Amino acid sequence: MWAIGLSLGREVPEESHIVKFFAFFPTVVALVVICYSHLISKWKNPKIEGVLPPGSMGWPLIGETLQFIVPGRSLELHPFIKKRMQKYGPIFKTSLAGRPIIVSTDNETNKYILHNEGTLVELWYLDSFAKFFSLEGETRVTAVGKVHRYMRSITSNHFGVESLKGSLLPKIEDMLHTNLSKWATQGPVDIKEVISVMVFNFTANKIFGYESENSNEKLSDNYTRILNSFISLPLNIPGTSFHRCMQDREKMLKMFKDTLMERINDPSKRRGDFLDQAIDDMETEKFLTVDFIPQLLFGILFATFESISTTLTLTFKFLSENTRAVEELTAEHDAIMRKRENPNSRLTWEEYKSMTFTQMVGFHALENGPCVVNETLRIFSGIPGLFRKALKDFQVKGFTVPAGWTVMLVTPAAQLNPETFKDPVTFNPWRWKDLDQVTISKNFMPFGGGIRQCAGAEYSKVVLSTFLHVLVTRYRFTKVKGGDVSRTPFVSFGDGIQIKFTAKN
Ligand SMILES: *[C@@H]1O[C@H](CO)[C@@H](O)[C@H](O)[C@H]1NC(C)=O
Ligand SMILES: *[C@@H]1O[C@H](CO)[C@@H](O)[C@H](O)[C@H]1NC(C)=O
Ligand SMILES: *[C@@H]1O[C@H](CO)[C@@H](O)[C@H](O)[C@H]1NC(C)=O
Ligand SMILES: *[C@@H]1O[C@H](CO)[C@@H](O)[C@H](O)[C@H]1NC(C)=O
Ligand SMILES: *[C@@H]1O[C@H](CO)[C@@H](O)[C@H](O)[C@H]1NC(C)=O
Repeated sequence: MWAIGLSLGREVPEESHIVKFFAFFPTVVALVVICYSHLISKWKNPKIEGVLPPGSMGWPLIGETLQFIVPGRSLELHPFIKKRMQKYGPIFKTSLAGRPIIVSTDNETNKYILHNEGTLVELWYLDSFAKFFSLEGETRVTAVGKVHRYMRSITSNHFGVESLKGSLLPKIEDMLHTNLSKWATQGPVDIKEVISVMVFNFTANKIFGYESENSNEKLSDNYTRILNSFISLPLNIPGTSFHRCMQDREKMLKMFKDTLMERINDPSKRRGDFLDQAIDDMETEKFLTVDFIPQLLFGILFATFESISTTLTLTFKFLSENTRAVEELTAEHDAIMRKRENPNSRLTWEEYKSMTFTQMVGFHALENGPCVVNETLRIFSGIPGLFRKALKDFQVKGFTVPAGWTVMLVTPAAQLNPETFKDPVTFNPWRWKDLDQVTISKNFMPFGGGIRQCAGAEYSKVVLSTFLHVLVTRYRFTKVKGGDVSRTPFVSFGDGIQIKFTAKN
């Protein structure tokens, strides 16, 4: 302002302004400093009734996000969590991606919170649903509880034991036969990539009739991108990965909504899938609006597909480095084949249930999972923790969790505890033979409870176990390249893992 004044030759009055400005300068600086330190101190010491856990809120807005996204070099508990556990104890506060967060690594607290999902906490991705809930004059707690129950029941209708026993198991087996036989005719494949695409196409087809053959874009890429960037800095400005993530998400929601409207307007397009059931339920469940259903589809797809593909990839890493496990696995599945009257008959539910060692190997990222399955899932914990959001103020171990705060339950902490699991990051499926049910149930909840457990668990276990069945009965595989794994804090595979498949005989 005064610069313009000077150039217009009105030095005299402006000069006095300058003088005034400089006279007040220290005051202004002081004010700015006071405001800023007030802001920082408010940030660092949020006003809350009760006692917050110890911990640092980091810098305004950024919080401790930068420290959080420094990759851990190994599969051990992420250094961010480890350091803070040592410094503050099992429950601490922090701030990530613009949200204040209470982190709990305490198994009892985690169990308590998960068992009260719907009353104390809600799924974090329901965040954006907030505006849909207050419509009916219900309290948010009641409304969220209702939505949770609904999500469980619709998911178990479509991915639960009954549908798996019925039409789903043979379809999964078919998918694996065609895809594996194709990979076996190719050179080495990037295992994470091919599995992600396969599982995404299949699951998306069951959810909203996605026909990958007729689609000219690879939606699985969009989904993977969203996942990779959703914990980035919440700076919604063009060029940032967060911005791209939000755009990808909006596009995806719009596509879901278009499909939904198409089916509502033209019932001949209906096919009896997950989406169609949601449409039918719109009459009785008032929260199922045309804006809410797309979010529901988004969440369910999210909960199922990424965990399956990461767990399977990790299984490949472990198995390709452990001949003894492959031998024992092969023996188990060969025995299943020998018991069959017709070797070409389909995999049955009873056979699936009999895969004891398979279940030890890996896939227990989902509650009550099988041991190759349990063991991979134990180490895997594909996510740094389970994210929930507090619905109201509540107390844990003498600390207050304020309403609206994010709660991060670090269930991997118990799974990687050396006191329970000796050499915790060593792949050792045999360890499960010596573990009793009580120890298991207290220390092993790879995906916690709630929606994951019901939505994904049995479905994921069936996909993983069937995959191993088809794999070891028909194919050999070798790791050609790669295999570095780190926590970023999501499990990530560096340059990928290249696997070469060959058909047996
Ligand atoms: C692989 O699986 C998908 C389902 O995800 C299926 O559509 C496809 O036909 C399968 N086969 C091949 C060769 O890609
Ligand atoms: C999956 O769907 C994409 C289209 O989105 C298609 O290009 C790809 O071939 C499909 N892959 C499999 C394995 O089904
Ligand atoms: C998926 O990503 C591609 C490439 O960025 C984009 O062109 C397309 O519109 C996206 N589609 C959806 C439905 O998100
Ligand atoms: C795998 O873990 C579940 C608990 O999540 C347990 O019930 C099951 O017995 C375990 N499997 C084996 C073979 O130990
Ligand atoms: C929590 O873990 C500790 C140590 O492994 C164990 O002694 C305790 O029983 C566990 N508590 C619950 C509720 O799981």
